[in-house]
Amino acid sequence: MGCPGASGPGPRAWVLRLLLGLAAWRGGAGGRSPVCGCCPGPARNGSSVASYCRAHPALELRGRCCVGPEPGAIVGLDLGNCSLTLLCAGFPDASAAVVIDLTENPLENIPNASFQGFTRLQSISLPLALECPGGSMAWDRITTHSDSRTCQGQRNPCNSSGELAWLCPENSLCSPDGPGLVQCLCSGSYHGYKCLREGTFPMLLFYGILGAVTTTLSLLAWGTQRRKAKAS
Ligand SMILES: *[C@@H]1O[C@H](CO)[C@@H](O)[C@H](O)[C@H]1NC(C)=O
Ligand SMILES: *[C@@H]1O[C@H](CO)[C@@H](O)[C@H](O)[C@H]1NC(C)=O
Ligand SMILES: *[C@@H]1O[C@H](CO)[C@@H](O)[C@H](O)[C@H]1NC(C)=O
Ligand SMILES: *[C@@H]1O[C@H](CO)[C@@H](O)[C@H](O)[C@H]1NC(C)=O
Repeated sequence: MGCPGASGPGPRAWVLRLLLGLAAWRGGAGGRSPVCGCCPGPARNGSSVASYCRAHPALELRGRCCVGPEPGAIVGLDLGNCSLTLLCAGFPDASAAVVIDLTENPLENIPNASFQGFTRLQSISLPLALECPGGSMAWDRITTHSDSRTCQGQRNPCNSSGELAWLCPENSLCSPDGPGLVQCLCSGSYHGYKCLREGTFPMLLFYGILGAVTTTLSLLAWGTQRRKAKAS
């Protein structure tokens, strides 16, 4: 059946599929991420996530997530009323989220580092007992209700005219990395600890030496094995 040469996808098609798969995985794999099913049921109708998702026609609700078009990055996440004492596994899959709701959970404490990489987050609602991620200085507006707190407008911690002004070492640039979090990226040709080294990293030399060492060790091991084999 079929014409010759049509016996399944060629190697190029496989490579393409692999790359597409990787891209989807990097994008958080949308509604298929375990974080969207971390709690049973759909996003709660009254939640900020459901309203945000309904207000943007390109987005759709999938489980507890509001996702964009394929590959479907997670734009919103409603984990309200989920009996959570800790954040679910897979929470970092939602690092591109704009709106998150964690209200009505017995959460005790959320480490600031849980929000590393959440640079697009613009609104997060929490049980009243919890502070805003990164502290109150990391947000423009904080509103409290009877049992919840909402933190809105993530500030740029690298903005030196704001109160958060962060100092990165010389030869590096400050880059936001989530609420109250920054990373210092080495500028130009600087690299290494505190960006103190200058010049391009001698990649070729590094791998050259690594290769030579590996080859020598393999030859030695092979030689030893052979001698053992002869002796027995
Ligand atoms: C949620 O709200 C939408 C629109 O506001 C409505 O169509 C739907 O029936 C509601 N679902 C529930 C379970 O209340
Ligand atoms: C919270 O969840 C429980 C069971 O999952 C449900 O019975 C209850 O009505 C929910 N509460 C709210 C405020 O949604
Ligand atoms: C998060 O960071 C803020 C500001 O640095 C700090 O006040 C707060 O204690 C930290 N919270 C946690 C849970 O580490
Ligand atoms: C930096 O902070 C100032 C004062 O808080 C604010 O007016 C300005 O819009 C901020 N700029 C950026 C790029 O965030």
